[in-house]
Amino acid sequence: MAENIATPTAAAVIELRGVGKIFRTASQSDRAVLEGVDLTLREGEIVAMLGKSGSGKSTLLRIMAGLVGADRGEVRFRGQRLAGTAEGIAMVFQSFALFPWLTVQQNVELGLEAQGVPRAERERRAEAAIDMIGLAGFNSALPRELSGGMRQRVGIARALVTEPDLLLMDEAFSALDVLTGETLRDEMLALWQSGRANIRSILIVSHNIEEAVMMADRIVILSSDPGRIRAEVPVALPRPRNRDSAQVRVLVDQIYALMTAPAAEARRPAPAREIGYRLPDADISQMEAILDLLCEAPFQGRADLPHLADEAGLTDDELLPACEALQLVQLVSIEAGDIAATDAGRAYYAAGPQQRKAIFGRQLLANVALAAHVRRELVASEAGEIGEEQVLEELEQSLKPAEAERVLSVAIGWGRYGEIFEYSYHSGMLTLPEDEGAGHGA
Ligand SMILES: Nc1ncnc2c1ncn2[C@@H]1O[C@H](COP(=O)(O)OP(=O)(O)OP(=O)(O)O)[C@@H](O)[C@H]1O
Ligand SMILES: [Mg+2]
Repeated sequence: MAENIATPTAAAVIELRGVGKIFRTASQSDRAVLEGVDLTLREGEIVAMLGKSGSGKSTLLRIMAGLVGADRGEVRFRGQRLAGTAEGIAMVFQSFALFPWLTVQQNVELGLEAQGVPRAERERRAEAAIDMIGLAGFNSALPRELSGGMRQRVGIARALVTEPDLLLMDEAFSALDVLTGETLRDEMLALWQSGRANIRSILIVSHNIEEAVMMADRIVILSSDPGRIRAEVPVALPRPRNRDSAQVRVLVDQIYALMTAPAAEARRPAPAREIGYRLPDADISQMEAILDLLCEAPFQGRADLPHLADEAGLTDDELLPACEALQLVQLVSIEAGDIAATDAGRAYYAAGPQQRKAIFGRQLLANVALAAHVRRELVASEAGEIGEEQVLEELEQSLKPAEAERVLSVAIGWGRYGEIFEYSYHSGMLTLPEDEGAGHGA
């Protein structure tokens, strides 16, 4: 069966337009919990939703499941206006919500009973779902005889048995211990990729940024009071994903920054404020190629990141670090999956080679602490030079030796290009650029 792959033009599974929800509090004053939520889930995609506690994630999921109505806007499922629960939408909750007096098999069949599926078919489909989720042999067990992880498998089987188009998972892995949660999550991904469960789209609500990055094709971040979609981050990484890979770490960092920044600040990237910041492996020519492409027609300075990725013909391994680097030096800003040239970025694009270097050097000093630090040390030194070991030692206070070397070599590449310092591979010495160094300390 075909792998699930979402394309921007894939058919919508569910569409929310201007969805709002108001709760009346005990003091009788109305409180908007959700406001103006626009969200579309397309065929073949997993979307993760992050947001602070109380931001309205569960409420939004319940609206999508048709369990509660929206006060504003509308929800369309498969093109039809959603009014109440619908066949084709299933939900998995954090608390397993199993009936303790029913067996695994009976708990799973419940979902089908509600749909009036005849008994023999119910049995057969429940067995298949139990099998699919790795509980074969436990059909006649009672929930209390199962571990937490197995109970959640029953909860998932109960959703899968209905062969839903849309699966909504509300913190489905967070009540489990870390290892069990990860195992179940990986199995869900394998199941999704195999296409066996026939699910068209999954929405995962999570508190865990890494879980979102590991699972989703796209991450939406909900703001609080009122809850609305504040940012959208595409996760264009191939699967299976390695949680220790640089790309996953970069995204986790970015999303962390987005989620921790006050709303108005959300558009600013996390600056490389500490000298030990893990600068991304991006070379200048890739950064230039992306910025040039971005500033030219048809984009004219602003693009949808995945769209730009297509045009750039760079792999994700190249594109993400280069975009992060451009963002770090603030030649671009990245927000809601859109990349836009900053004023400095536009000036860079318009400039000739020598001027480009000067702009880059300036942006580097203003935004990348390690570059500014090396430069400061050089200016303060008698001879206008320092040994690389001195810098490595400082970096090793927060980074492993190999990582410290990598980060320094990135900074050296950028610093040489921006002509804020020089480096001799021969002696391992960092120096001020020649034309500046001449008058220094001599
Ligand atoms: N039935 C209700 N009546 C009144 N207020 C409600 C009701 N349900 C939820 N709320 C309020 O709406 C807000 C959003 O709740 P919701 O459970 O959707 O948040 P959440 O993002 O899922 O939070 P968490 O991360 O803690 O699960 C909260 O302030 C909650 O107290
Ligand atoms: Mg919740």
